[in-house]
Amino acid sequence: MSLTYPGAAITGWGYALPDKIVTNADFEARLDTSHEWIVERTGIHERRHGGTTQSLAVEAARVALAKSGNDAADIDLVILSTTTPDRAVPATSSAVHSELGCSGAAFDLNAACAGFVYSIVTAVSMFAVGYRRALVIGADTLSRITDQEHRGTAVLFADGAGAVVIEARADRELVLSHDLGLDGSLASILYCDHGGYLVMEGKDVFRRAVRCSVDSALKVLATAQVTADDIALFVPHQANQRIIDAAVQRLGLEPSKSAIVLDRTGNTSSGSMGIALAEAADQGRVTDGDLVLLSGFGAGMTWASAVLRWGS
Ligand code: ACO
Repeated sequence: MSLTYPGAAITGWGYALPDKIVTNADFEARLDTSHEWIVERTGIHERRHGGTTQSLAVEAARVALAKSGNDAADIDLVILSTTTPDRAVPATSSAVHSELGCSGAAFDLNAACAGFVYSIVTAVSMFAVGYRRALVIGADTLSRITDQEHRGTAVLFADGAGAVVIEARADRELVLSHDLGLDGSLASILYCDHGGYLVMEGKDVFRRAVRCSVDSALKVLATAQVTADDIALFVPHQANQRIIDAAVQRLGLEPSKSAIVLDRTGNTSSGSMGIALAEAADQGRVTDGDLVLLSGFGAGMTWASAVLRWGS
């Protein structure tokens, strides 16, 4: 099936992290773990805790809006990807929409760590029915649903947000291909009940994450009729450096093309790929016409990949 995506461009990007830095030494001081174990098994050196999903989302969105040259009132669609909404009802996107002063529609989207890509694809698809300027935000405060006394999860999960402004532009091609998927029968390997903490079968998630995100990335490369060599920037979900290394190797990507923030942020779920993309864009690692490969996986188990053509 060949698809025609509405023309679009990413015109602004930004990210937000809480001020409070939690180092591996902080965990070492009170849990049976070590800096060496955490770095060797995950690649994480430190992470940030604090804020609310709303506050981090708004901060990242303001940076993205300023970069795009738009006022919040110009935005007619807000999609907030999150697994940690501040309240059960209403959606956190409604509070973000109101605090920023956006126009039009807003909704939360929960596809766990794959949610940022789900949201980009959803936003661009909605340009086909008349929306013109979308604010796509990935924001999570996982520290609130992580048992800080459990060494197996506490060292991994953290807080942060990334955002992009995407504008409908007939003369631009943003999405070249996409793949969204999930296997809901795998919910038991990573879940969090209302009022509870994240429960994870780490080894199983690890194994399946590598497989599903590589398969998904290969699919979007093939659909876009491009190869790993054509990709200028690879933005993987930031869960574990070993998962990223395995994916990079299996995809045949040059390791230096990866956008990595994991060492400083930990796993921020929906925030992760937006933060990595925004930091890479700030560093000038993508220029007009470059191809960007995004690929993520998360609880569900979900996965999502896309090939984007950069150009604002
Ligand atoms: N410090 C020291 N030892 C630890 C720690 C820790 N922080 N955490 C676990 N261990 C121990 C375990 O208890 C186990 O001990 P045992 O052998 O006595 O039982 C030992 O280390 C080995 O544990 P494994 O689980 O086999 O370690 P592994 O090498 O698989 O690494 C990890 C664990 C880091 C969790 C890895 O499996 C992983 O990253 N999995 C994927 C997680 C992931 O990506 N989650 C996010 C999904 S996205 C989302 O939706 C949020």
